[in-house]
Amino acid sequence: MALVEVNQLQVTFGEKTAVSAASFAIEKGETFSLIGESGCGKSTILRVLAGLQRDWNGSIAVLDEQLKAGCRFEGALRRNVQMVFQDPWASLHPNHTIARTLSEPLKIHGETQITEKVTDALQQVGLSADAGKRYPHQLSGGQRQRVAIARALLLRPQLLLLDEPTSALDMSVQAEILNLLNRLKQQHGMTYLLVSHDADVIAHMSDRAAFMAHGVIQRMFDREAMLKGEHRMG
Ligand SMILES: Nc1ncnc2c1ncn2[C@@H]1O[C@H](COP(=O)(O)OP(=O)(O)OP(=O)(O)O)[C@@H](O)[C@H]1O
Ligand SMILES: [Mg+2]
Repeated sequence: MALVEVNQLQVTFGEKTAVSAASFAIEKGETFSLIGESGCGKSTILRVLAGLQRDWNGSIAVLDEQLKAGCRFEGALRRNVQMVFQDPWASLHPNHTIARTLSEPLKIHGETQITEKVTDALQQVGLSADAGKRYPHQLSGGQRQRVAIARALLLRPQLLLLDEPTSALDMSVQAEILNLLNRLKQQHGMTYLLVSHDADVIAHMSDRAAFMAHGVIQRMFDREAMLKGEHRMG
């Protein structure tokens, strides 16, 4: 069975249909991407799969568990599905040190040896333990995004949802973060659902990509098609 199975997903905001009859499956270990122009519904799909957007119709299974619309994620699902946002500020409290921000999810989930785990998490994303003593504004944009990734990985999730994780970064930092994400995926056997508007990023990262327009999945691209550049629209 696929790690993620989405069937006939629909999300509406009042009169507006943000996602219409979207169906796709993501196999374990895959990087599956969503592409398409601004407002086509990419983030909405990620937010549904992260349990942040709870009003939806259709059927979704994640890690063999059937999601229920309207419900919070609990238990294994809460650990196993994590999201990285475009803006790392979104997951970092401005008045908390990095170490404190990283400690919190571990405490909530009743973990022990928190200091060691925080240091290890920083090391995994290429930051020194010293970075833990700083506040978000004392880090560079790339360092902040590394912390956001460390935070998402603390609970060893199986599925990582990446919403434009590098689009706020300059080109060289972007490449570093993408390579880091690929390395961590190998190390931990994760599955990625990636959103990016950058065709190069998509081709570099993805096994398959779905092209969306106006809330509808219009086309799927496999690696071969992406290597030929078929996903480069316009
Ligand atoms: N909470 C909300 N309330 C009302 N409308 C919303 C809400 N969230 C999203 N929408 C609308 O749903 C549509 C899809 O939004 P979504 O954020 O999924 O697009 P996107 O593909 O991620 O775009 P972008 O590339 O700009 O991030 C848009 O028209 C957006 O305005
Ligand atoms: Mg978006």
